[in-house]
Order: sequence, then C-alpha cells, then structure tokens
Amino acid sequence: MLAALTAASLSAQPIQYVEGRKLFLLTTRDSSYAMGVDSNGELQHLYWGAPLWRADDVPAAAPRREMSSFDPPAMLEREEFPAWGGTRYYEPALKLTRADGNRDVVLRYASHALHDNALDVTLKDIRDDIEVVLHYRVFADHGIIERSATIVNKTAKPLNIESAQSATFNLPAGEGYQLTYLTGRWAAETQVNHEAIHQGMKVLESRKGHTSHNINPWFAVDAGASEDHGSVWFGALGWSGNWRITVEQTPYQQVRVTGGLNTFDFAYPLKPGESLDTPAFYAGYSADGFGAASRLLHRFEREQIAPGGLTSRVRPVLYNSWEATTFNVNEAGQKQLADTAAKLGVELFVMDDGWFGKRNNDRAGLGDWTVNPQKFPQGLKGLIDHVNSLGMDFGLWVEPEMVNPDSDLYRAHPDWVIHFPDRPRSELRNQMVLNLARPDVKEYIFGFLDKLATENNVKYFKWDMNRPLSEPGWEDQPVADQRKLWVDYVRNLYDILDRLRARHPKLEIESCSGGGGRIDLGILHRVEEVWASDNTEAFDRLRIQEGFTQAYAPKFMSAWVTDVPNMNRRSTPLQYRFLVAMQGALGIGSNLNKFSTDDTAVATKMVATYKRIRDTVQLGDLYRLMSPRAGDVTANQYVAADGKQSVLFVFRHSQEYNTAPPTIHLQGLDPKALYKLESADNKLVERQPQFSGAYLMQAGVNVTLRGDFDSTAVILEKQ
Ligand code: GLA
Repeated sequence: MLAALTAASLSAQPIQYVEGRKLFLLTTRDSSYAMGVDSNGELQHLYWGAPLWRADDVPAAAPRREMSSFDPPAMLEREEFPAWGGTRYYEPALKLTRADGNRDVVLRYASHALHDNALDVTLKDIRDDIEVVLHYRVFADHGIIERSATIVNKTAKPLNIESAQSATFNLPAGEGYQLTYLTGRWAAETQVNHEAIHQGMKVLESRKGHTSHNINPWFAVDAGASEDHGSVWFGALGWSGNWRITVEQTPYQQVRVTGGLNTFDFAYPLKPGESLDTPAFYAGYSADGFGAASRLLHRFEREQIAPGGLTSRVRPVLYNSWEATTFNVNEAGQKQLADTAAKLGVELFVMDDGWFGKRNNDRAGLGDWTVNPQKFPQGLKGLIDHVNSLGMDFGLWVEPEMVNPDSDLYRAHPDWVIHFPDRPRSELRNQMVLNLARPDVKEYIFGFLDKLATENNVKYFKWDMNRPLSEPGWEDQPVADQRKLWVDYVRNLYDILDRLRARHPKLEIESCSGGGGRIDLGILHRVEEVWASDNTEAFDRLRIQEGFTQAYAPKFMSAWVTDVPNMNRRSTPLQYRFLVAMQGALGIGSNLNKFSTDDTAVATKMVATYKRIRDTVQLGDLYRLMSPRAGDVTANQYVAADGKQSVLFVFRHSQEYNTAPPTIHLQGLDPKALYKLESADNKLVERQPQFSGAYLMQAGVNVTLRGDFDSTAVILEKQ
C-alpha cells in the first residue's frame, strides 16, 4: 500500500503521453494502464496492474509476426478496441454492416485529445470515415478507470451496428486466471461464483431488458487471490438493459474481457452523421485481494457515481409496510403503522403497492396512477401530513413502466405495451411492459411522476419493475430501427430519472426490480439506494449481502427487518434480523401492530444503535472477515473513514459439538492506537475495557455464540 502510494505520487499526471512512441500511461492511486500505437497504426494494450510512474519504461507497441497461417499476427496482439475485420477471430468490440453488405472494419489510430484526467483516442477505419472515439477517464484518487466508446458514422451511407462494446480489457499475458462473478434469481440474488478460466469464452449477460437477477454486470479476475491478498482485476458496467461481458482465453496465453451492449438481438442503425454511445465500463486493480477491490469500488461509487457524491446524506432509517399489509393499504392503517414506526426512531415512512387505481391485488390497476378514493378518501395529503407531523419523510411505491391489462391506461392505449403485432403479449404477474422507447410513453411516465412529486410532499419514490421485457416489437418504427428499443428504453428510463431529479432536487429514489433485478452502476448514478432482494430472510441475506458488497457499497443496500417465519420457513431472533439489516441501509418491514413489548424494546434499541454506527457502516470501509460460504460463523467489520469507530458484526448459523466460534482477527485498525470495546449484549469474551489495534488484529477477539442463529455486535471507539 505504501509502495503504491509512493509510486502514484511520483507520477505527476494521471495521464502521461510519450509522443515519440505514441504511448499513453494512465495512473491511479492503485493501478496503471498503458497502451500505445504500433507501427501499423493499431492501438495496442500494453499494461494493466500495480502503479507505474515512468511511461518511458513501457516498451513501445510492436506488431507481431505470423505464427502459422492459422495463427495470424492480429490474434497474437492485444488490440485495445478490436473491430471485426481482417484476420481477427476473437470477440470484437465493434461489428457492423454497411449498406452494400461490406462488413470489414479495421481500426487505426487517427488522433487523440488529452485533458487533465480524460483522454479521447479516435480510431478510424482504414478506408471509410467510420470513427470510434475511445473515452478514458482516470479517477486517480479512487483507483478507477472509466472506459466507453462512441461510434460515429461519418460516411455518406447508413451503417448497421451489430456489436457495440464499451471496452476490451486485456489481462497481463498468461494463464491460470480465475473468474469471480455474481449470479442468482428472484429472491436469491448476488451469489458469489469463483471458477477457473480455461481456453474458450464465458458469457455473462442479460437478455431481459433490465440488469436482471440472474447475473450482475460485475466481474473480477484474479491469479490466486484471496479476500486479503493477491492481484484482482475487476470491472463493472453501467447499463440497466441488455448488457454482456465476455471473458475469453485465447490459445495464446491471453485473457480478454469485453463488455458493453448485448449483441443478442442487437441492431442499431446509424444514418450518416449519427453516432452511438456505449455505456461506461469502470475498471480497477487491487494488489490486496477481493476485500480491497470491493473497498475501492465502494468508495468510488459513493463519491463519484451516487447522486450528490460526497455531499449526499446518509440513508435514513426507513419503514415499509409491504410485507405487513401487502395491498391492503388505507389511510387509517398506514397512520397507525406510522405512529409506531416514529416511536422506534424511523425517519422515512414508505407506502408500498396498493394505494392507486383499482389495485387490490396484482391483477389490476398498474398504469392508473391516481389515488384510490376508497382507501384514501382525502387523497394522500392526510397521510403525508400525519407522517410529516411525526417527524418522518414520506415515500411512495411506483412501478412506472408497467400496466395491467385490467387498467384504464391499457384500455386507452393498448398499443403502448411492448409487443409484436398479432402475437401473444405475454403476461408475467398479470402485467405487461410499456414501450418506454416511445416518446409519448416516456412523456406520460415523466408527467405522472412529476405531478405526484409536485402535488404531494413525496420525498422518495421506490421505483419498481416487476417483470422483464418480452416480445420486443416496436411496430410504428421502420423495420431496421425496431431493435433500437433495447437501447432507447434504457436511455429514456435514465432521462426520466435525470429530469425528475432536476425538477425535484430533494427527491430521493430507490431502484427495485422485484428485489435486485436492476442494480448496476448506470442506475446507481441516478438513485440513492437499491433493494437488494425480495428475500428478507436474515440467514439467506448474509450470502446475498456478501455478493452484493463484492460490487456495491453497503450504503446503497436497502435491508429490512421483517417478520418470522420468513422464507425457508425459517425463524431467527429479532436481534439477529436487526444486525443483518444494520450492515446496510437499515429498514423495517415488520407488521408493527404485532410487535410485543419486548420486540418494541429490541427494535428501539437497535435503531438507536444503528444511528450511532451508520456513518461507519454506510461511509466506512467494509472488511468481510468470515464468509457465510466458508463456515458456520459470518463476520463483517466496518471501519469509519476517519478511523475513529469500527463495528464488528458476528452471526452463527448452527453450533455443533458445543464448539466455540473461531477467534476473529480484526482489520483496518491503527496498530498503535487504543480502542474501547463495547459489546451489544455481553457476548464478547475479552473483558478489558480497551485494547491496542495491534492486539485486536494480531491476537483477535472471541465471542460466545451458542445454538442456532445467535448474533452479536461490538462497537470499537478509538481513544
Ligand atoms: C416487488 C417488490 C416488493 C414490493 C412488491 C409490491 O415484488 O420487490 O418489495 O414492492 O413488488 O407489489
């Protein structure tokens, strides 16, 4: 770490350019990235790894010689943004067809423009005015490099783009790499997978129109790293639609990661003069394992991706009645819940599904965003005023992209849903997807959300999306343009969010898609938090949260305490459920009307404790000390950004043979400082009032966790 900082501080500029060799060296606190133009004019990747400070050290890019007629030079090289053309047989970053059917594209360096921390390199086809501008942005203090590309049709004829990737990343030449990625399904998101990379290609993707629960657009490649040690190269795509990341090992000891817009069912025509921007692909390198890689990303997301960045507030404690009431919301019931929530210390009261149209179940009402007069005879004002009078902000659930066939909206605009003419319109959860790519649909959605936020003191939307796209037709477009739907849908979604935020600067938004179906760096640029999973069962959550935090900061991870028995018919103690949820943005989703006096006492205490530690949890560094995948004890530690506080959370699944939990070695502390330890519930074995950081990290602490689903927390205050 010290070495890394020294190296980075020696490099004056985040981007160095060596004119003679047309070589670029991009350097962050934690990494360097180099590429250069070879004598054929091709932009070749040269280096990605720990920080360098001297661009002159990096050898110039040199074209390779043919190995055999089956192993052409292009395959042995590491092009920075390969188009499909010439003798390239690996995954291209660009593929297109010209109007006359010609599909060969070979890109050569044309020019570049260098700014402080940004670089644009323009590549151009060897014959035609087809340009690709590669955008690089260096977040030197955050250890992250952002890449994307703009494809520009400067020819006089239309082009059809068939693959438009954001970037190709080359790993250092070699084999024996491993890939880590996150998979799942509804209520079982972000499960960690770790596997060897062999020759061939692994495809991570979504074809569902949203980011999807199935695979998340994040990857990490390592060469034998662990949570605390070793080199990890990682990246995350900022795109909430059909995305694709391929991880490919060629026969030539090369591993390449290419990502951007999914090529599946993709066609994006560009008329003369038009261009296509690809999503941002953020990447970084850590020399200190997966934990350090996550911490780099977390800080980057909090400070550079999230709306407001450093100036955004910590997430408030939220109450949401969905699991308690489902669709049975009404003014009296919500007011009663609000009264109790306020007493527990809740700061944001969110009314979920069921408040609008004829929404008494999931078969009707989606699309009709007017308050249900039976449930709320006075409109929302009575409830909102009441919630505000209790000192809480008010939030509202919406699912803007969707429509039930049984709705006034669908009866008025059956053509607004995504469909192919004269084909079935598949329903999932009895709903269909509005074609957000259409300008009229986009304006309708913006209009009703803007109205809701203007006419009511709504401070928060929980924006849900409860099904993927299907039968993606767009009949009122020319045939050649119909598949633009995949891209334009997402752009319009982003546009609505951006405009809403601009018009209502105090409005906060949560992204939910049946749980964690829309979590990525594109949406996180526009929302304050995301709903990690509809699965609120606390033990399952430990693994969902472990996977979530590989890629995303705990601050964004909305986590609720709910009632038991929950999923898997499992019951865990209330404290266990609280401590699990307190590792992210704490929310409560229990039926508070059923809380016993004891429950209320536990909840009140836990909410107060959370408020004491939430800056540390939300803005600090996370150390995943013991993985729920590895044994029956899970331990996570958070260290405040200023190092003054740290919190340890420990969970036990099932004790066997009366065994004591393993000693827990803390991390991220100042070895020379003294820390006062405070146990939440007297389960800390060590009794001295204070310990040195050195002892806590080297000798460790012990906790007494017995039986099933026992839990504890220890707060450390630096003296
Ligand atoms: C989805 C969400 C839930 C809840 C319901 C409401 O399933 O993930 O949290 O909002 O919709 O219908």
